[in-house]
Amino acid sequence: MKHLLNIESLDAAQIDGILARTAEMKRLRGPHPDAPLAGECWALMFSKSSTRTRISFEVGIRELGGQPVFLAANDIQLGRGEPISDTARVMGRMVQGAVIRTYAQGDVEQFAALSGLRTINALTDLEHPCQILSDLFTIIEKRGSLDGLTVTFIGDGDCNVARSWIWAAAKLGFALRIAAPAKFQPPAELVRRAGGDIVVTTDVLGASTGADVLYTDVWVSMGKEDETAFRNAQFGGYQINQAAVDAAGGSPLVMHCLPAYRGKEITADVFEGNAQTIFDQAENRLHTQKAVLTLLEKRG
Ligand code: CP
Ligand code: NVA
Repeated sequence: MKHLLNIESLDAAQIDGILARTAEMKRLRGPHPDAPLAGECWALMFSKSSTRTRISFEVGIRELGGQPVFLAANDIQLGRGEPISDTARVMGRMVQGAVIRTYAQGDVEQFAALSGLRTINALTDLEHPCQILSDLFTIIEKRGSLDGLTVTFIGDGDCNVARSWIWAAAKLGFALRIAAPAKFQPPAELVRRAGGDIVVTTDVLGASTGADVLYTDVWVSMGKEDETAFRNAQFGGYQINQAAVDAAGGSPLVMHCLPAYRGKEITADVFEGNAQTIFDQAENRLHTQKAVLTLLEKRG
Protein backbone atom coordinates (compact mmCIF):
# COMPACT_ATOMS: atom_id res chain seq x y z
CA MET A 1 0.00 0.00 0.00
CA LYS A 2 1.61 3.23 -1.17
CA HIS A 3 -1.09 5.67 -0.05
CA LEU A 4 -4.17 5.81 2.13
CA LEU A 5 -6.60 7.72 -0.08
CA ASN A 6 -9.94 6.19 0.90
CA ILE A 7 -11.58 3.07 2.30
CA GLU A 8 -13.11 2.37 -1.11
CA SER A 9 -9.80 1.22 -2.57
CA LEU A 10 -8.74 -0.95 0.39
CA ASP A 11 -9.46 -4.65 0.63
CA ALA A 12 -10.34 -6.56 3.79
CA ALA A 13 -6.79 -7.89 4.21
CA GLN A 14 -5.34 -4.37 4.09
CA ILE A 15 -7.87 -3.14 6.63
CA ASP A 16 -7.13 -6.11 8.89
CA GLY A 17 -3.41 -5.35 8.57
CA ILE A 18 -3.94 -1.75 9.65
CA LEU A 19 -6.09 -2.84 12.61
CA ALA A 20 -3.48 -5.38 13.73
CA ARG A 21 -0.70 -2.79 13.49
CA THR A 22 -2.86 -0.34 15.44
CA ALA A 23 -3.10 -2.83 18.29
CA GLU A 24 0.68 -3.16 18.23
CA MET A 25 1.15 0.62 18.31
CA LYS A 26 -1.27 0.95 21.20
CA ARG A 27 0.59 -1.74 23.17
CA LEU A 28 3.93 -0.05 22.52
CA ARG A 29 2.72 3.53 23.11
CA GLY A 30 5.00 6.55 23.09
CA PRO A 31 8.25 6.85 21.16
CA HIS A 32 8.79 3.84 18.90
CA PRO A 33 12.03 2.01 19.79
CA ASP A 34 12.91 1.50 16.09
CA ALA A 35 12.09 5.07 15.00
CA PRO A 36 10.70 3.84 11.64
CA LEU A 37 10.33 7.39 10.27
CA ALA A 38 13.83 8.53 11.33
CA GLY A 39 15.22 11.15 8.96
CA GLU A 40 11.83 11.84 7.37
CA CYS A 41 9.86 15.08 7.15
CA TRP A 42 6.12 14.80 6.61
CA ALA A 43 4.04 17.73 5.36
CA LEU A 44 0.61 18.17 6.94
CA MET A 45 -1.29 20.32 4.48
CA PHE A 46 -4.68 21.30 5.90
CA SER A 47 -7.36 23.42 4.20
CA LYS A 48 -9.89 22.80 6.99
CA SER A 49 -9.80 22.99 10.80
CA SER A 50 -8.67 20.01 12.84
CA THR A 51 -7.98 19.06 16.43
CA ARG A 52 -7.78 15.26 16.55
CA THR A 53 -6.37 14.55 13.12
CA ARG A 54 -3.73 17.23 13.34
CA ILE A 55 -2.52 16.41 16.84
CA SER A 56 -2.55 12.65 16.25
CA PHE A 57 -0.46 12.99 13.09
CA GLU A 58 1.93 15.56 14.58
CA VAL A 59 2.50 13.48 17.71
CA GLY A 60 2.44 10.18 15.82
CA ILE A 61 5.09 11.29 13.29
CA ARG A 62 7.32 12.51 16.14
CA GLU A 63 6.84 9.31 18.12
CA LEU A 64 7.92 7.36 15.04
CA GLY A 65 11.12 9.41 14.79
CA GLY A 66 10.03 11.75 11.96
CA GLN A 67 9.41 15.49 11.77
CA PRO A 68 5.98 16.94 10.93
CA VAL A 69 5.77 20.24 9.04
CA PHE A 70 2.33 21.79 9.46
CA LEU A 71 1.15 23.88 6.51
CA ALA A 72 -2.20 25.62 6.78
CA ALA A 73 -3.38 25.95 3.18
CA ASN A 74 -4.04 29.66 3.63
CA ASP A 75 -0.47 30.27 4.79
CA ILE A 76 1.07 28.77 1.68
CA GLN A 77 0.65 29.81 -1.95
CA LEU A 78 -1.99 27.11 -2.44
CA GLY A 79 -4.37 29.46 -0.63
CA ARG A 80 -3.59 32.18 -3.20
CA GLY A 81 -4.32 29.97 -6.16
CA GLU A 82 -1.12 28.01 -6.81
CA PRO A 83 -2.31 24.74 -8.33
CA ILE A 84 -2.18 21.53 -6.31
CA SER A 85 -0.21 20.02 -9.21
CA ASP A 86 2.66 22.49 -8.69
CA THR A 87 2.47 22.25 -4.90
CA ALA A 88 2.73 18.47 -5.20
CA ARG A 89 5.77 18.59 -7.43
CA VAL A 90 7.56 21.00 -5.09
CA MET A 91 6.81 18.97 -2.00
CA GLY A 92 7.87 15.78 -3.74
CA ARG A 93 11.39 17.17 -3.83
CA MET A 94 11.54 18.24 -0.20
CA VAL A 95 9.62 15.92 2.11
CA GLN A 96 9.06 12.19 2.42
CA GLY A 97 5.31 12.01 2.97
CA ALA A 98 2.13 14.08 3.06
CA VAL A 99 -1.06 14.17 5.08
CA ILE A 100 -3.76 16.23 3.39
CA ARG A 101 -7.09 17.58 4.63
CA THR A 102 -9.05 19.35 1.94
CA TYR A 103 -12.31 19.56 -0.01
CA ALA A 104 -11.96 17.67 -3.28
CA GLN A 105 -10.98 14.00 -3.18
CA GLY A 106 -9.44 14.55 -6.61
CA ASP A 107 -6.91 16.98 -5.13
CA VAL A 108 -5.54 14.34 -2.75
CA GLU A 109 -5.39 11.81 -5.57
CA GLN A 110 -3.66 14.27 -7.89
CA PHE A 111 -1.20 15.17 -5.15
CA ALA A 112 -0.38 11.51 -4.57
CA ALA A 113 0.15 10.89 -8.28
CA LEU A 114 2.30 13.96 -8.96
CA SER A 115 4.35 14.23 -5.77
CA GLY A 116 5.45 10.60 -5.69
CA LEU A 117 5.08 10.86 -1.91
CA ARG A 118 3.32 8.50 0.45
CA THR A 119 0.03 10.38 0.80
CA ILE A 120 -2.68 10.11 3.43
CA ASN A 121 -6.22 11.48 3.14
CA ALA A 122 -6.86 13.27 6.43
CA LEU A 123 -10.48 14.05 5.35
CA THR A 124 -12.03 15.22 2.12
CA ASP A 125 -15.64 15.94 1.25
CA LEU A 126 -15.89 12.32 0.09
CA GLU A 127 -14.18 10.20 2.74
CA HIS A 128 -12.51 10.23 6.16
CA PRO A 129 -10.60 6.93 6.05
CA CYS A 130 -8.37 7.58 9.09
CA GLN A 131 -11.45 8.13 11.26
CA ILE A 132 -13.24 4.97 10.22
CA LEU A 133 -10.13 2.77 10.56
CA SER A 134 -9.74 4.05 14.09
CA ASP A 135 -13.44 3.51 14.80
CA LEU A 136 -13.25 -0.08 13.56
CA PHE A 137 -10.33 -0.63 15.92
CA THR A 138 -12.32 0.86 18.82
CA ILE A 139 -15.29 -1.40 18.15
CA ILE A 140 -13.09 -4.50 18.02
CA GLU A 141 -11.29 -3.38 21.18
CA LYS A 142 -14.60 -3.12 23.01
CA ARG A 143 -16.61 -5.92 21.45
CA GLY A 144 -13.92 -8.41 20.42
CA SER A 145 -14.84 -8.53 16.74
CA LEU A 146 -17.05 -7.01 14.07
CA ASP A 147 -18.65 -10.33 13.25
CA GLY A 148 -22.42 -10.21 13.38
CA LEU A 149 -22.53 -6.59 14.51
CA THR A 150 -24.93 -3.92 13.29
CA VAL A 151 -23.65 -0.35 13.14
CA THR A 152 -26.29 2.38 12.91
CA PHE A 153 -25.27 5.79 11.64
CA ILE A 154 -27.70 8.61 12.45
CA GLY A 155 -27.43 12.02 10.80
CA ASP A 156 -25.90 13.23 7.54
CA GLY A 157 -25.86 10.00 5.58
CA ASP A 158 -24.09 11.61 2.66
CA CYS A 159 -21.12 13.07 4.53
CA ASN A 160 -17.52 11.88 4.34
CA VAL A 161 -17.75 9.83 7.55
CA ALA A 162 -20.96 8.07 6.47
CA ARG A 163 -19.48 7.29 3.07
CA SER A 164 -16.39 5.76 4.63
CA TRP A 165 -18.70 3.66 6.84
CA ILE A 166 -20.46 2.42 3.72
CA TRP A 167 -17.21 1.19 2.22
CA ALA A 168 -16.04 -0.33 5.52
CA ALA A 169 -19.29 -2.27 5.92
CA ALA A 170 -19.13 -3.51 2.35
CA LYS A 171 -15.50 -4.63 2.63
CA LEU A 172 -15.73 -6.23 6.06
CA GLY A 173 -19.24 -7.65 5.89
CA PHE A 174 -20.94 -6.15 8.96
CA ALA A 175 -24.43 -4.68 8.78
CA LEU A 176 -24.82 -0.91 8.39
CA ARG A 177 -28.04 1.05 8.91
CA ILE A 178 -28.11 4.71 7.92
CA ALA A 179 -30.91 6.88 9.26
CA ALA A 180 -30.89 10.21 7.44
CA PRO A 181 -33.40 12.74 6.09
CA ALA A 182 -34.32 12.09 2.46
CA LYS A 183 -32.22 15.02 1.22
CA PHE A 184 -29.12 13.78 3.04
CA GLN A 185 -29.00 10.14 2.13
CA PRO A 186 -26.08 8.62 0.24
CA PRO A 187 -26.71 8.17 -3.49
CA ALA A 188 -28.50 4.85 -4.15
CA GLU A 189 -25.96 4.15 -6.88
CA LEU A 190 -23.11 4.37 -4.35
CA VAL A 191 -24.84 2.00 -1.93
CA ARG A 192 -25.54 -0.43 -4.77
CA ARG A 193 -21.96 -0.26 -6.01
CA ALA A 194 -20.58 -0.85 -2.51
CA GLY A 195 -22.76 -3.93 -2.02
CA GLY A 196 -22.98 -5.58 1.39
CA ASP A 197 -25.72 -5.41 4.00
CA ILE A 198 -26.56 -1.70 4.00
CA VAL A 199 -29.99 -0.21 4.62
CA VAL A 200 -30.78 3.49 4.23
CA THR A 201 -33.93 4.84 5.87
CA THR A 202 -35.57 7.92 7.36
CA ASP A 203 -36.65 5.90 10.40
CA VAL A 204 -34.26 6.66 13.28
CA LEU A 205 -35.83 4.31 15.82
CA GLY A 206 -36.29 1.53 13.28
CA ALA A 207 -32.63 1.79 12.29
CA SER A 208 -31.58 1.85 15.95
CA THR A 209 -33.53 -1.25 16.93
CA GLY A 210 -31.10 -3.98 17.94
CA ALA A 211 -28.04 -1.93 16.93
CA ASP A 212 -24.71 -2.83 18.52
CA VAL A 213 -23.21 0.56 17.71
CA LEU A 214 -24.95 3.93 17.46
CA TYR A 215 -22.77 6.42 15.61
CA THR A 216 -23.19 10.03 14.66
CA ASP A 217 -21.34 12.98 13.17
CA VAL A 218 -22.06 16.70 12.89
CA TRP A 219 -25.09 17.89 10.92
CA VAL A 220 -23.01 20.63 9.28
CA SER A 221 -19.73 19.38 7.87
CA MET A 222 -16.84 21.72 7.20
CA GLY A 223 -17.47 23.61 3.99
CA LYS A 224 -21.26 23.40 4.36
CA GLU A 225 -21.62 26.30 6.80
CA ASP A 226 -23.79 28.34 4.42
CA GLU A 227 -26.40 25.55 4.64
CA THR A 228 -26.54 25.64 8.45
CA ALA A 229 -30.12 26.91 8.82
CA PHE A 230 -31.47 24.48 6.22
CA ARG A 231 -29.56 21.57 7.72
CA ASN A 232 -30.64 22.33 11.27
CA ALA A 233 -34.25 22.30 10.07
CA GLN A 234 -33.83 19.07 8.10
CA PHE A 235 -31.90 17.13 10.75
CA GLY A 236 -34.15 17.78 13.78
CA GLY A 237 -34.76 14.31 15.25
CA TYR A 238 -31.78 12.68 13.50
CA GLN A 239 -30.06 12.49 16.83
CA ILE A 240 -28.61 9.94 19.24
CA ASN A 241 -30.83 10.41 22.27
CA GLN A 242 -32.19 8.17 25.01
CA ALA A 243 -34.97 6.92 22.74
CA ALA A 244 -32.43 5.70 20.18
CA VAL A 245 -30.35 4.05 22.92
CA ASP A 246 -33.49 2.37 24.31
CA ALA A 247 -34.44 1.17 20.84
CA ALA A 248 -31.01 -0.41 20.46
CA GLY A 249 -31.62 -2.31 23.69
CA GLY A 250 -28.80 -3.88 25.71
CA SER A 251 -25.98 -1.40 25.95
CA PRO A 252 -24.96 -0.22 22.50
CA LEU A 253 -21.61 1.41 21.98
CA VAL A 254 -22.36 5.09 21.42
CA MET A 255 -19.71 6.65 19.23
CA HIS A 256 -19.01 10.11 17.85
CA CYS A 257 -16.06 11.12 15.67
CA LEU A 258 -16.07 14.59 17.28
CA PRO A 259 -16.38 17.55 17.44
CA ALA A 260 -19.83 17.11 19.05
CA TYR A 261 -22.69 19.58 19.09
CA ARG A 262 -24.84 18.74 22.07
CA GLY A 263 -28.53 19.13 21.48
CA LYS A 264 -27.99 18.67 17.74
CA GLU A 265 -26.72 15.25 16.60
CA ILE A 266 -26.44 13.92 20.18
CA THR A 267 -28.02 14.89 23.49
CA ALA A 268 -25.76 16.10 26.29
CA ASP A 269 -26.78 13.30 28.66
CA VAL A 270 -26.15 10.51 26.16
CA PHE A 271 -22.83 12.09 25.23
CA GLU A 272 -21.63 12.32 28.83
CA GLY A 273 -22.94 8.86 29.66
CA ASN A 274 -20.74 7.48 26.88
CA ALA A 275 -17.76 9.79 27.25
CA GLN A 276 -15.41 6.90 28.08
CA THR A 277 -16.08 5.24 24.73
CA ILE A 278 -16.05 8.51 22.79
CA PHE A 279 -12.71 9.66 24.18
CA ASP A 280 -11.16 6.19 23.83
CA GLN A 281 -12.29 6.50 20.23
CA ALA A 282 -10.49 9.86 19.98
CA GLU A 283 -7.31 8.48 21.57
CA ASN A 284 -7.26 5.59 19.12
CA ARG A 285 -6.76 8.07 16.30
CA LEU A 286 -3.14 8.38 17.46
CA HIS A 287 -2.47 4.65 17.42
CA THR A 288 -4.20 4.21 14.05
CA GLN A 289 -2.27 7.08 12.50
CA LYS A 290 1.00 5.51 13.62
CA ALA A 291 -0.09 2.18 12.14
CA VAL A 292 -0.86 3.74 8.76
CA LEU A 293 2.36 5.77 8.76
CA THR A 294 4.44 2.64 9.23
CA LEU A 295 2.55 0.54 6.70
CA LEU A 296 2.85 2.78 3.64
CA GLU A 297 5.62 1.59 1.36
CA LYS A 298 8.59 3.87 1.01
CA ARG A 299 9.74 4.95 -2.44
CA GLY A 300 11.82 2.19 -4.05
N1 CP B 1 -12.73 13.55 14.07
C1 CP B 1 -11.86 14.39 13.50
O1 CP B 1 -11.32 14.18 12.41
O2 CP B 1 -11.58 15.48 14.27
P1 CP B 1 -10.79 16.76 13.78
O3 CP B 1 -11.63 17.45 12.75
O4 CP B 1 -10.64 17.59 15.03
O5 CP B 1 -9.47 16.34 13.22
N1 NVA C 1 -18.23 15.28 8.61
C1 NVA C 1 -17.40 16.12 9.43
C2 NVA C 1 -16.31 15.33 10.07
C3 NVA C 1 -15.49 16.09 11.06
C4 NVA C 1 -14.38 15.28 11.63
C5 NVA C 1 -16.83 17.24 8.58
O1 NVA C 1 -16.45 17.00 7.43
O2 NVA C 1 -16.77 18.38 9.07
